[in-house]
Amino acid sequence: MRDCLYSVDIMNPIVSFKTIGCRLNQAETATITAHFTGAGYRVVPHGEATDVAVIHGCAITGKADRDSLRALRQVRRAAPDAIIILTGCPAETRLKLQTEKGDDADLVIGQAGKFALPALLHRLHPSRFPPPLQITENPPVLPVFETLRAFVKVQDGCDFRCAYCVVPETRGSPVSRPIPEIVEEVRRLADSGFKEIVLTGANLGCYEDNGRRLVDLVRAVEAIPAVARIRLSSIEITTTENLIIDHMATSGKLCHFLHIPLQSGDDGILKTMGRRYDVATFRQAIDYALNKIPDLGLGTDIIVGFPGESQPAFENTVRLVRDLPFSNLHVFPYSRRAGTRADGLADQVPAAVKKERVRILRELGTRQRAVFAAGFIGKTVEALIEHVDKAGAAHGWTGQYLEAVISGTSLRRGDRAPFTVAHTVEGQLHNFKPFPARM
Ligand code: 5AD
Ligand code: SF4
Repeated sequence: MRDCLYSVDIMNPIVSFKTIGCRLNQAETATITAHFTGAGYRVVPHGEATDVAVIHGCAITGKADRDSLRALRQVRRAAPDAIIILTGCPAETRLKLQTEKGDDADLVIGQAGKFALPALLHRLHPSRFPPPLQITENPPVLPVFETLRAFVKVQDGCDFRCAYCVVPETRGSPVSRPIPEIVEEVRRLADSGFKEIVLTGANLGCYEDNGRRLVDLVRAVEAIPAVARIRLSSIEITTTENLIIDHMATSGKLCHFLHIPLQSGDDGILKTMGRRYDVATFRQAIDYALNKIPDLGLGTDIIVGFPGESQPAFENTVRLVRDLPFSNLHVFPYSRRAGTRADGLADQVPAAVKKERVRILRELGTRQRAVFAAGFIGKTVEALIEHVDKAGAAHGWTGQYLEAVISGTSLRRGDRAPFTVAHTVEGQLHNFKPFPARM
């Protein structure tokens, strides 16, 4: 076929995607997907036969990096002739730091290039792949997720340079998208059926559009009638302004949930990590939020086994976690990352010790979640219904990020359902208490 005789009918290539890592990656995969569908590609699930496979990977830890490469090998087996593209942070570390191998990828494309993949493929193989959609600024946004929750990137990059973190290397300095552009994207997502919008960024609290901050963005998004709920993804304590907490306390749409990375409950470790707060400041900020929003769901990230983390330092973390009502704990074993300050530190903690500390904190996290959920018994909360199972029970999530199971109703997907909690099962809220078993 001659290049100029291309026709979208003939050229209907197939593409698959695999996303690993954070919500920002998920938000970006949605945009990348829209670029491909806009150019005429058909999307199939990852692991199926395909012409092009995009692995949108993660490099935050060694494990995430290995998972990204595993996904790559999976596709290679399922589609030996496919063009496999490795992109996102692991592509960036490979290109920039040249510390790791590109492995089995046909193309390793950094952060900037990932938003122009159809154009690149067309340039490389004009007879095989169609040109991109000409209007590249506003690609069609298609519902690619099974949930009613859409992740929207509002900000990218971070320059905090915590000692353990590759993000400043892989995502560069902070950049925010203008409010009108975000509002337009959210409007399209809401019109195509998404009810809950999660605002995401690499360092969300750094959001700024000509002097307008995150709270102004939240207000603008809330004004869209079809948006039922807004959620903030992870936000740094030093950037969480009281204004946003005050707004959360009174807003009908902004979920009562904050995910604020703690990383460690030991002042010495926080200092070596290069974090910008100490334990007392962290506690104060959380107390302010809990006073304003008593039913607040609280999530956090913790790194265990950071270089120099002694047993007493770890116990300081355990104590702080116990003291604060965290309902969602993400515990990471410290992972050495090339190009970060912490990689050069002495006193690395043995793997077995890290493993045990992860276990202790994860167990604590599960218990605290159950306690937090049990606190809702007798209270009325609202769930956004995601699906109804065969037995007729409706499943959804509350604003505080607790799972809800509501039986004996005719609720449907997409409904906002207030219900009174009668019973909890390991952090799950139920509107019915099971009858006691007969003896
Ligand atoms: N090792 C382990 N965990 C890490 N995180 C970031 N870098 C590392 C690392 N080198 C965790 C932090 C951060 C979350 C997204 O990933 O807890 O908040
Ligand atoms: Fe990484 Fe620290 Fe920036 Fe978070 S604030 S992305 S942990 S450097």
